[in-house]
Amino acid sequence: MTLKATGLSAVRLGRTILHPTSLEIEPRGRIGLVGVSGSGKSTLGHVLVDDLKAQGASVAHVPQSPAEALDPLRSMAFHWREAEVAVGLVPGAADQAGLFQALRIEGGDLRKRPWGWSRGMQQRFVMAMALIGSPDLIVLDEPTSALDPVVAAATMELLSTFLDDKETSMILITHDLGLAARWVDRLMVMDAGRLVEQGRTADILERPQTRSAKALSAHRNWLALPC
Ligand SMILES: Nc1ncnc2c1ncn2[C@@H]1O[C@H](COP(=O)(O)OP(=O)(O)OP(=O)(O)O)[C@@H](O)[C@H]1O
Ligand SMILES: [Mg+2]
Repeated sequence: MTLKATGLSAVRLGRTILHPTSLEIEPRGRIGLVGVSGSGKSTLGHVLVDDLKAQGASVAHVPQSPAEALDPLRSMAFHWREAEVAVGLVPGAADQAGLFQALRIEGGDLRKRPWGWSRGMQQRFVMAMALIGSPDLIVLDEPTSALDPVVAAATMELLSTFLDDKETSMILITHDLGLAARWVDRLMVMDAGRLVEQGRTADILERPQTRSAKALSAHRNWLALPC
């Protein structure tokens, strides 16, 4: 099912931080949402997730910081049960072992609270929670920001392999074009609360049209990074 959202916008403290934006996401689509810090990527991610959920789509959101998704006073087991119930499963019904293995967090102690896990493990735990129930779309906001480059690359590899068997589409929010270049087919470039350019990843990287896309793709040292 192609997901469509139209006229998404956001105003905070009287300032428009997201100008009316429409987008379509194909099944199995791999889209990168890129732009400099403060360009509105996370805002668009939040507004998009809310809009699609209101339409009845099953959408999972991995927020920029694990702290947005994890309550410091609750155990990881509690979070896991909540995530299961949220998608209509009875507690214990999700394939926890499979997801944990896919994201290499088998060693994590579920009795602990978030601070008993490293931030990188927390981030992958939040990804695993998001994948319970195979959503139509997963929105990942800077999913590897707490990970070192080697673990970041491995995590994206694991996630991608996991998604290969599913219909789930992915929006990868990042300012890291290296990550985007490797993992997405289509790029959407944001600048000052507007979607200013979109197209095939290779086209935008090779022939950027707008000032923002040119600036982002000018930093080509990302090609040397492992992720
Ligand atoms: N709740 C809020 N109240 C006021 N301003 C906000 C709020 N949330 C975001 N903004 C502003 O909106 C703009 C876009 O923020 P947003 O977090 O979406 O950017 P971003 O592209 O995700 O940045 P980053 O790469 O740093 O995560 C920024 O100027 C930010 O300061
Ligand atoms: Mg952000």
